[in-house]
Amino acid sequence: MAEVIIVPDAAAAGALVADEIASLIAADPEVVLGLATGSTPLPVYEALRPRLEGVDVSRVRGFALDEYVGIDPQHPESYRNVIRREVVEPLGLTPERIHTPNGALETIEHAGDDYERAIAAAGGVELQILGIGTDGHIGFNEPGSSFASSTRVKTLTEQTKRDNARFFDSIDQVPTHCITQGLGTILHARHLVLLAFGEGKAQAVAGAVEGPVTASVPGSAIQLHPRVSVVVDEAAASRLRFADYYRYTWENKPAWQGL
Ligand code: F6R
Repeated sequence: MAEVIIVPDAAAAGALVADEIASLIAADPEVVLGLATGSTPLPVYEALRPRLEGVDVSRVRGFALDEYVGIDPQHPESYRNVIRREVVEPLGLTPERIHTPNGALETIEHAGDDYERAIAAAGGVELQILGIGTDGHIGFNEPGSSFASSTRVKTLTEQTKRDNARFFDSIDQVPTHCITQGLGTILHARHLVLLAFGEGKAQAVAGAVEGPVTASVPGSAIQLHPRVSVVVDEAAASRLRFADYYRYTWENKPAWQGL
Protein backbone atom coordinates (compact mmCIF):
# COMPACT_ATOMS: atom_id res chain seq x y z
CA MET A 1 0.00 0.00 0.00
CA ALA A 2 1.11 3.54 -0.61
CA GLU A 3 2.53 5.48 2.28
CA VAL A 4 0.22 8.45 2.71
CA ILE A 5 1.70 11.57 4.29
CA ILE A 6 -0.74 14.30 5.25
CA VAL A 7 0.99 17.66 5.51
CA PRO A 8 -0.36 21.08 6.53
CA ASP A 9 0.10 22.68 3.13
CA ALA A 10 1.70 22.52 -0.30
CA ALA A 11 4.87 24.23 0.91
CA ALA A 12 5.42 21.49 3.50
CA ALA A 13 4.90 18.87 0.80
CA GLY A 14 7.38 20.66 -1.45
CA ALA A 15 10.00 20.74 1.30
CA LEU A 16 9.58 17.05 2.07
CA VAL A 17 9.87 15.89 -1.53
CA ALA A 18 12.65 18.35 -2.33
CA ASP A 19 14.70 16.96 0.58
CA GLU A 20 14.37 13.49 -0.90
CA ILE A 21 15.33 14.62 -4.41
CA ALA A 22 18.28 16.64 -3.13
CA SER A 23 19.62 13.59 -1.30
CA LEU A 24 19.17 11.45 -4.42
CA ILE A 25 21.23 13.97 -6.40
CA ALA A 26 23.88 14.03 -3.69
CA ALA A 27 24.08 10.23 -3.81
CA ASP A 28 24.07 10.05 -7.62
CA PRO A 29 24.80 13.21 -9.63
CA GLU A 30 23.46 11.45 -12.75
CA VAL A 31 20.17 10.43 -11.16
CA VAL A 32 17.19 10.13 -13.50
CA LEU A 33 14.18 12.11 -12.28
CA GLY A 34 10.62 11.77 -13.55
CA LEU A 35 9.14 15.25 -13.89
CA ALA A 36 5.53 16.34 -13.92
CA THR A 37 3.99 19.59 -15.12
CA GLY A 38 0.80 21.34 -14.00
CA SER A 39 0.37 23.31 -10.77
CA THR A 40 0.91 20.52 -8.26
CA PRO A 41 4.68 19.94 -8.51
CA LEU A 42 5.58 23.63 -8.45
CA PRO A 43 6.18 23.75 -4.65
CA VAL A 44 8.66 20.87 -5.09
CA TYR A 45 10.61 22.71 -7.77
CA GLU A 46 10.55 25.90 -5.69
CA ALA A 47 11.80 24.10 -2.60
CA LEU A 48 14.53 22.39 -4.62
CA ARG A 49 16.11 25.63 -5.70
CA PRO A 50 17.75 26.64 -2.37
CA ARG A 51 18.63 23.01 -1.66
CA LEU A 52 20.61 22.73 -4.89
CA GLU A 53 22.54 25.98 -4.56
CA GLY A 54 26.22 25.20 -4.91
CA VAL A 55 25.46 21.60 -5.98
CA ASP A 56 26.70 20.37 -9.35
CA VAL A 57 23.45 19.41 -11.10
CA SER A 58 24.89 19.46 -14.61
CA ARG A 59 24.62 15.69 -15.00
CA VAL A 60 21.13 15.19 -13.55
CA ARG A 61 18.82 13.60 -16.10
CA GLY A 62 15.06 13.96 -16.38
CA PHE A 63 12.02 12.74 -18.29
CA ALA A 64 8.73 14.62 -18.33
CA LEU A 65 5.51 12.66 -18.24
CA ASP A 66 3.72 14.14 -21.19
CA GLU A 67 3.29 16.72 -23.94
CA TYR A 68 0.46 18.09 -26.04
CA VAL A 69 0.34 16.77 -29.59
CA GLY A 70 0.64 19.31 -32.37
CA ILE A 71 1.18 22.28 -30.04
CA ASP A 72 3.33 25.08 -31.45
CA PRO A 73 6.79 24.45 -29.99
CA GLN A 74 6.98 28.17 -29.17
CA HIS A 75 3.73 28.05 -27.18
CA PRO A 76 4.47 28.94 -23.55
CA GLU A 77 2.21 26.09 -22.37
CA SER A 78 3.89 23.33 -24.37
CA TYR A 79 5.22 21.08 -21.64
CA ARG A 80 8.69 21.30 -23.09
CA ASN A 81 8.58 25.04 -22.43
CA VAL A 82 6.92 24.62 -19.05
CA ILE A 83 9.64 22.20 -17.94
CA ARG A 84 12.33 24.56 -19.24
CA ARG A 85 10.78 27.55 -17.43
CA GLU A 86 9.80 25.86 -14.15
CA VAL A 87 12.54 23.28 -13.74
CA VAL A 88 15.53 23.42 -16.08
CA GLU A 89 16.31 27.13 -15.85
CA PRO A 90 15.61 27.79 -12.17
CA LEU A 91 17.50 24.70 -11.05
CA GLY A 92 20.35 25.12 -13.53
CA LEU A 93 19.90 21.69 -15.13
CA THR A 94 21.46 20.86 -18.49
CA PRO A 95 18.71 21.26 -21.14
CA GLU A 96 19.98 18.40 -23.32
CA ARG A 97 19.61 16.01 -20.40
CA ILE A 98 15.97 16.83 -19.70
CA HIS A 99 13.53 15.18 -22.09
CA THR A 100 9.88 15.66 -22.99
CA PRO A 101 7.90 13.36 -25.30
CA ASN A 102 7.94 14.78 -28.81
CA GLY A 103 4.47 16.01 -29.72
CA ALA A 104 5.40 17.05 -33.28
CA LEU A 105 2.90 15.66 -35.79
CA GLU A 106 5.55 14.64 -38.34
CA THR A 107 7.12 12.06 -36.02
CA ILE A 108 4.22 11.24 -33.75
CA GLU A 109 3.82 7.66 -35.00
CA HIS A 110 7.10 6.56 -33.46
CA ALA A 111 7.50 9.24 -30.78
CA GLY A 112 6.17 6.93 -28.04
CA ASP A 113 8.58 4.12 -28.86
CA ASP A 114 11.45 6.61 -29.14
CA TYR A 115 10.66 7.92 -25.67
CA GLU A 116 10.47 4.46 -24.16
CA ARG A 117 13.87 3.64 -25.65
CA ALA A 118 15.36 6.84 -24.26
CA ILE A 119 14.07 6.10 -20.75
CA ALA A 120 15.39 2.54 -20.93
CA ALA A 121 18.77 3.73 -22.24
CA ALA A 122 19.02 6.06 -19.24
CA GLY A 123 18.49 3.09 -16.94
CA GLY A 124 14.92 3.99 -15.94
CA VAL A 125 13.51 6.63 -13.65
CA GLU A 126 14.60 6.70 -10.02
CA LEU A 127 11.90 8.97 -8.58
CA GLN A 128 8.76 9.88 -10.50
CA ILE A 129 6.84 12.97 -9.41
CA LEU A 130 3.12 12.66 -10.12
CA GLY A 131 0.11 14.93 -9.87
CA ILE A 132 -3.40 13.57 -10.33
CA GLY A 133 -6.25 14.88 -12.44
CA THR A 134 -9.72 15.41 -11.01
CA ASP A 135 -10.81 12.45 -13.16
CA GLY A 136 -8.10 10.27 -11.64
CA HIS A 137 -5.57 10.47 -14.47
CA ILE A 138 -1.83 10.27 -13.87
CA GLY A 139 0.38 11.46 -16.66
CA PHE A 140 -2.38 11.96 -19.23
CA ASN A 141 -3.61 8.40 -18.83
CA GLU A 142 -7.30 9.09 -18.87
CA PRO A 143 -9.90 6.68 -17.42
CA GLY A 144 -9.81 3.39 -19.31
CA SER A 145 -6.05 3.45 -19.86
CA SER A 146 -4.36 0.07 -19.74
CA PHE A 147 -2.17 -0.62 -16.74
CA ALA A 148 0.32 -2.12 -19.20
CA SER A 149 0.41 0.94 -21.48
CA SER A 150 3.61 2.56 -22.66
CA THR A 151 4.20 6.06 -24.05
CA ARG A 152 1.56 6.77 -26.67
CA VAL A 153 -1.00 9.25 -27.94
CA LYS A 154 -4.17 9.72 -25.89
CA THR A 155 -7.26 11.87 -26.29
CA LEU A 156 -7.89 14.26 -23.41
CA THR A 157 -11.27 14.04 -21.69
CA GLU A 158 -13.58 17.05 -21.66
CA GLN A 159 -12.93 17.25 -17.92
CA THR A 160 -9.15 17.49 -18.39
CA LYS A 161 -9.58 20.08 -21.15
CA ARG A 162 -11.77 22.13 -18.80
CA ASP A 163 -9.23 21.77 -15.97
CA ASN A 164 -6.35 22.82 -18.20
CA ALA A 165 -8.19 25.66 -19.94
CA ARG A 166 -6.77 27.97 -17.25
CA PHE A 167 -3.38 27.73 -18.98
CA PHE A 168 -4.82 28.81 -22.34
CA ASP A 169 -6.98 31.70 -23.57
CA SER A 170 -9.99 29.41 -23.91
CA ILE A 171 -10.92 25.73 -23.72
CA ASP A 172 -10.93 25.54 -27.53
CA GLN A 173 -7.21 26.18 -27.52
CA VAL A 174 -6.45 23.19 -25.29
CA PRO A 175 -5.11 20.52 -27.64
CA THR A 176 -7.31 17.45 -28.06
CA HIS A 177 -4.45 14.96 -28.02
CA CYS A 178 -1.41 14.39 -25.90
CA ILE A 179 1.49 11.99 -25.83
CA THR A 180 1.98 10.53 -22.39
CA GLN A 181 4.05 7.97 -20.59
CA GLY A 182 1.81 4.96 -20.07
CA LEU A 183 0.74 3.53 -16.75
CA GLY A 184 3.13 0.67 -17.46
CA THR A 185 5.96 3.17 -18.01
CA ILE A 186 5.16 4.98 -14.78
CA LEU A 187 5.00 1.73 -12.83
CA HIS A 188 8.58 0.99 -13.90
CA ALA A 189 9.95 3.99 -12.01
CA ARG A 190 11.58 2.89 -8.77
CA HIS A 191 9.78 5.33 -6.47
CA LEU A 192 6.49 7.07 -7.19
CA VAL A 193 5.72 10.30 -5.36
CA LEU A 194 2.16 11.45 -5.96
CA LEU A 195 1.19 14.90 -4.71
CA ALA A 196 -2.26 16.46 -4.48
CA PHE A 197 -3.61 19.60 -2.89
CA GLY A 198 -7.11 20.95 -2.35
CA GLU A 199 -10.62 19.63 -1.99
CA GLY A 200 -10.97 19.26 -5.76
CA LYS A 201 -8.50 16.37 -5.69
CA ALA A 202 -10.01 14.57 -2.67
CA GLN A 203 -12.12 12.13 -4.62
CA ALA A 204 -9.36 11.26 -7.09
CA VAL A 205 -6.91 10.71 -4.22
CA ALA A 206 -9.34 8.45 -2.34
CA GLY A 207 -9.99 6.47 -5.51
CA ALA A 208 -6.29 6.12 -6.29
CA VAL A 209 -5.19 5.17 -2.78
CA GLU A 210 -8.13 3.23 -1.35
CA GLY A 211 -10.52 2.50 -4.18
CA PRO A 212 -10.57 -0.67 -6.21
CA VAL A 213 -7.69 -1.09 -8.62
CA THR A 214 -9.41 -0.23 -11.87
CA ALA A 215 -8.59 1.31 -15.21
CA SER A 216 -11.55 3.61 -14.57
CA VAL A 217 -9.35 5.38 -12.00
CA PRO A 218 -5.90 5.30 -13.63
CA GLY A 219 -4.27 6.64 -10.45
CA SER A 220 -5.26 3.40 -8.71
CA ALA A 221 -2.39 1.79 -10.65
CA ILE A 222 -0.14 3.09 -7.86
CA GLN A 223 -1.53 0.30 -5.67
CA LEU A 224 0.40 -2.15 -7.85
CA HIS A 225 3.74 -0.45 -7.14
CA PRO A 226 5.96 -1.53 -4.25
CA ARG A 227 7.19 1.95 -3.33
CA VAL A 228 4.77 4.86 -3.41
CA SER A 229 4.61 8.03 -1.32
CA VAL A 230 1.39 10.01 -1.52
CA VAL A 231 1.87 13.52 -0.14
CA VAL A 232 -1.36 15.44 0.35
CA ASP A 233 -2.73 18.38 2.28
CA GLU A 234 -5.71 18.03 4.63
CA ALA A 235 -8.22 19.03 1.96
CA ALA A 236 -6.97 16.46 -0.56
CA ALA A 237 -6.91 13.87 2.24
CA SER A 238 -10.45 14.66 3.36
CA ARG A 239 -12.04 11.61 1.73
CA LEU A 240 -9.47 9.08 2.86
CA ARG A 241 -11.07 6.45 5.04
CA PHE A 242 -7.86 5.54 6.86
CA ALA A 243 -6.53 9.09 7.31
CA ASP A 244 -6.05 8.64 11.07
CA TYR A 245 -3.99 5.53 10.49
CA TYR A 246 -1.82 7.35 7.93
CA ARG A 247 -1.18 10.16 10.44
CA TYR A 248 -0.33 7.66 13.16
CA THR A 249 2.02 5.76 10.83
CA TRP A 250 3.85 8.92 9.79
CA GLU A 251 4.18 10.18 13.37
CA ASN A 252 5.66 6.86 14.40
CA LYS A 253 7.85 6.30 11.38
CA PRO A 254 11.36 5.21 12.27
CA ALA A 255 13.80 8.00 11.37
CA TRP A 256 16.04 5.65 9.39
CA GLN A 257 13.33 4.84 6.85
CA GLY A 258 13.33 8.18 4.99
CA LEU A 259 10.58 9.05 2.51
C1 F6R B 1 1.21 16.72 -15.81
C2 F6R B 1 0.41 15.52 -15.68
C3 F6R B 1 -0.97 15.53 -15.12
C4 F6R B 1 -1.17 16.50 -13.97
C5 F6R B 1 -2.62 16.52 -13.55
C6 F6R B 1 -2.86 17.47 -12.40
O1 F6R B 1 2.48 16.40 -16.34
O2 F6R B 1 0.89 14.51 -16.05
O3 F6R B 1 -1.29 14.24 -14.67
O4 F6R B 1 -0.34 16.12 -12.91
O5 F6R B 1 -3.41 16.88 -14.63
O6 F6R B 1 -2.65 18.78 -12.84
P1 F6R B 1 -2.48 19.98 -11.81
O7 F6R B 1 -1.27 19.69 -11.03
O8 F6R B 1 -2.32 21.20 -12.65
O9 F6R B 1 -3.71 19.97 -10.98
